[in-house]
Amino acid sequence: MREVLMKKFKELFGGEGDIRAYFAPGRVNLIGEHTDYNGGHVFPCALTIGTYMIARRRTDRTLRFYSMNFEDKGVMTSSLDELYYDKAADWTNYPKGIMWTFNEKGLEVSNGVDMLLFGNIPNGSGLSSSASVELVTGVMLRDMFGYEKLSMIDLALYGQYSENKFNGVNCGIMDQFAIAMGKKDQAIFLDTSDLSYTYAPVKLDGARIVIACSNKKRGLGDSKYNERRSECEEALADIRKVKNIENLGQLTEEEFEAVKDAIRRPVCVRRAKHAVYENQRTVKAVTALKNNDIAQFGQLMNASHVSLRDDYEVTGIELDTLVEEAWQCDGVIGSRMTGAGFGGCTVSIVKTEAIDAFIEKVGAAYKEKIGYAADFYVVDIGDGAGILA
Ligand code: GLA
Repeated sequence: MREVLMKKFKELFGGEGDIRAYFAPGRVNLIGEHTDYNGGHVFPCALTIGTYMIARRRTDRTLRFYSMNFEDKGVMTSSLDELYYDKAADWTNYPKGIMWTFNEKGLEVSNGVDMLLFGNIPNGSGLSSSASVELVTGVMLRDMFGYEKLSMIDLALYGQYSENKFNGVNCGIMDQFAIAMGKKDQAIFLDTSDLSYTYAPVKLDGARIVIACSNKKRGLGDSKYNERRSECEEALADIRKVKNIENLGQLTEEEFEAVKDAIRRPVCVRRAKHAVYENQRTVKAVTALKNNDIAQFGQLMNASHVSLRDDYEVTGIELDTLVEEAWQCDGVIGSRMTGAGFGGCTVSIVKTEAIDAFIEKVGAAYKEKIGYAADFYVVDIGDGAGILA
């Protein structure tokens, strides 16, 4: 991969100087959805697919971008004096947002850069292709501009800052954290209230992680993501009139049931219920995995989907079809939507010997009902972002 990209870079931008290569993975969340901006737990892992970047520092202030995923756009040119969100700048808003963030944090990006990117994460699939671009840019800037004092967690926070303040999506920290801190064959059990975390080996006992991509495109910018977030904030504000808590993640199921009448709007009761129960499910799921109780882990994944479908209302017919068909298949331990929802992907844990039949059956049922095909990926858990050797 590196060689192919290097060759293309040299063709486009010339072969002189110090050209370096970087990689940032995509991520899949196993359980703990829409909990990260509610001070709850998440349990994502980094994938081995992701975004590659080849880059070279320039002597002027010009930025040149080329994506092998959008070759029709050709080389896109900008400059360090144009670090503001611009719809026409399209995907380059992600790397530009990170440069802007470095400057905001007082770490000057003093020179322009030539960048070539290639990603093998399906775009807009809910596997965090945008956070992957943010982190690959972060590791590049850290390396090229001598900001080694920044930790990977700093870079994750920069990614989130840029997403929130530059790209206008009020996301939590899960995606950027998973991509920055991922470890091969491990998932990250992260408490988003204080960023404490532990790694948990994902031993699936003869099963593998299968991702089904609905191919229903969506961007979080135009989705109901920010609306869900404010509904949770409204519920929290109502609860705080009767109980002193910082976030919904602090409540057990029983505590929630005892205070839920304080929430005025019924829709906000349902949103908050999901946030509270999903957080508790995530804690239970990690315990189950540590006890090698994969069946229990799968049951909790299924319950997570039901809650996202009925209480949080972020699934839609595409994701529901993929998951409900998966539940009918032999060898499926658990299946749920993953990521923000509203399209994107599902994650299933499927016995290895049942995977072919699973893909065939769910694929056919999906095409029949939705009218276009889903794509399936049997994935591996990989390491977090860094320099490509
Ligand atoms: C998106 C956001 C994350 C998280 C998930 C839902 O992926 O970027 O911060 O909120 O949705 O769990």
